[in-house]
Amino acid sequence: HSAAEKPPITLLIAAPRGFCAGVDRAIEIVERALERYGAPVYVRHEIVHNKYVVDGLRQKGAIFVEELDEVPDNAPVVFSAHGVPKAVPEEADRRGLDYLDATCPLVSKVHRQAERQLEADRHIVFVGHKGHPEVIGTMGQVPEGTMTLVETVEDVEALDFAEDDALAFLTQTTLSVDDTAEIVDALRTKFPHIVGPKAEDICYATSNRQAAVKQIAPGSDLVLVIGAGNSSNSLRLVEVSEKCGTNAKLIRRAADIDPTWLEGVGTLGLTAGASAPEELVREVVDKIAEWREVEEHTLVTTEEKMVFKLPRQLTQ
Ligand code: F3S
Repeated sequence: HSAAEKPPITLLIAAPRGFCAGVDRAIEIVERALERYGAPVYVRHEIVHNKYVVDGLRQKGAIFVEELDEVPDNAPVVFSAHGVPKAVPEEADRRGLDYLDATCPLVSKVHRQAERQLEADRHIVFVGHKGHPEVIGTMGQVPEGTMTLVETVEDVEALDFAEDDALAFLTQTTLSVDDTAEIVDALRTKFPHIVGPKAEDICYATSNRQAAVKQIAPGSDLVLVIGAGNSSNSLRLVEVSEKCGTNAKLIRRAADIDPTWLEGVGTLGLTAGASAPEELVREVVDKIAEWREVEEHTLVTTEEKMVFKLPRQLTQ
C-alpha cells in the first residue's frame, strides 16, 4: 500500500487519559527503591494493573509476588497502589521487613475514614467490586463483620439493617460515577441516617477519565480503551462508552487490535485507563497509521495537576 491508498480515519483521543498521580507515584516508588536498595526489590501484587509496566520493572530487578511469605527476610518490599489489609504491614513489621507503601493516598484516605467510622461505632457499607485488591485492602482495615460489601442497587435492597442502626458508607475509588450515584441514592433512601462522603470516594482520575470518554464516545464509531482486564477503572471506561451507545473494546496494546474492527469506522475514539502508559497510546496510533491515513484530534475536557509526595523513606 502506498500512503495515498490508505483510507482516512479520524482519531478522537480523550484527555485526560492514562496515568494518574497515584500510578505515577507507585511506579516511581519501585524505581527509586531499586536505585536505593539495588535489585531485587520485591513488590506485593502487580504495582499497578498493567503488564507492560510490570514487565518493565521486572527487567529492572523487581520481583512480583502475591503474598509476603514469598518475600525473603531482609529484602525490601513495596505494597501496590491498590492498598493492603492492615494485617500485611503488621506482618512485615513482625518480620522486620523494610517495606514501602505505594498505596495511593486517595485509597489511604478511605482507609482512614473506615477507621474513623469504626471508632464511631458505625457499621460500614462499602460499595465496591468483590475480589478487587483495593476492596480486599479497604475491608481489611477493620475487623471482620464490621463492613458489608455491596456491588449493586439490588444488594442495597437486600441489606437488613434496622432503620435506626448507626451506619456509614464508603466506596472504592475506581467505580462508575453513574452507577455509584444510583447505589448511594438507594442507600440514602433506605437508610436516611447513613453517614458518608458528600458524593462518594471515587477519585478525581476515575471521574475525569469517565467524563472524557463521554465526550468522545458519541461521535465515534468505535472506542478503544487501552487497559487491562483486572483494571477496574479501564473496565468502567468500556462500560461508559457503551452506555453512550458506542461499541468499545478493551485492548492491552496495539497487537490486540483486530484490523477487521476498523472496517466501516470513520471516527475511532481512543482512551487509556489510569494504569496504562502513554507509550501504549502512541503505539496504538502508530499501528492504526499503518492501515489508515490518520487525522488525530485530542479532546481535552479538563487539565490535571495532581501530584502526590513520595514516602519519607525515599526522600530523606
Ligand atoms: Fe489513586 Fe485514583 Fe489513580 S485512587 S491510583 S488516583 S485511579
